[in-house]
Amino acid sequence: MKIEILKTKEEIGKRAAKEFIDVIQKNPEAILGLATGSSPIELYKNLVQAYSNEEISFKNVKTFNLDEYVNIDKNHPQSYFTFMNQNLFSEIDINMNNVNIPAGVGNLEEICKDYNKKLEENVRDIQILGIGTNGHIAFNEPGTKFTQITHITQLAEQTINDNTRFFDKKEDVPTQAISMGLSNIMDSKKIVLIATGKNKASAIKQMIEGKQTEELPASILQNHKDVLILIDEEAASKLKN
Ligand code: GLP
Repeated sequence: MKIEILKTKEEIGKRAAKEFIDVIQKNPEAILGLATGSSPIELYKNLVQAYSNEEISFKNVKTFNLDEYVNIDKNHPQSYFTFMNQNLFSEIDINMNNVNIPAGVGNLEEICKDYNKKLEENVRDIQILGIGTNGHIAFNEPGTKFTQITHITQLAEQTINDNTRFFDKKEDVPTQAISMGLSNIMDSKKIVLIATGKNKASAIKQMIEGKQTEELPASILQNHKDVLILIDEEAASKLKN
């Protein structure tokens, strides 16, 4: 794991974007693994900027998102599809046929199977990740097997509480999601993980310095050969070195 501690969210977003821009410039048909949440927002701003400056084009790029809430239609204001559209897709020249986000409504078993097949056929060149306060990545909650593929997952109580801020009330927060599995995430050639703020410090410490355990899903990344961790001082505050 390569770890960089940076001062601000803006610097982190810029640093992460550099990795993505390099990948797209080397291969205009790159396959990107994308994520939602507050952590990647600055990355997306920088990618939109790089597109506006004509440094990169997304015309032949393919994307695969990590997850989507179950029972939330893609047009719902809190769907991950809406999030991606607002923060990235509507601002760039991507072909929407090349955008892949699992649907949260329909025959969920079939959706998981199809998505997993597509992931196997489309190895990501680079994957962006955030991390949950309980150490989850995508929606792979503590206790998820390291061998897990795309699946329907029950959100942990802590995750539901963390996500309540996006909904009017706790009862509106979805309790299930469709998520890439840990095994799918590990298939990406390169991984960039972003975390900022004190509430991530404990998960970051366990991910980097803790023992590898399915109780802390992000600890699986200790096994990946090309991971870049971008954190601010608060998220790094519990690290020994
Ligand atoms: C959600 C997403 C994760 C994300 C996490 C952290 O649970 N499924 O992919 O990493 O939230 O979100 P944030 O970046 O807003 O802290």
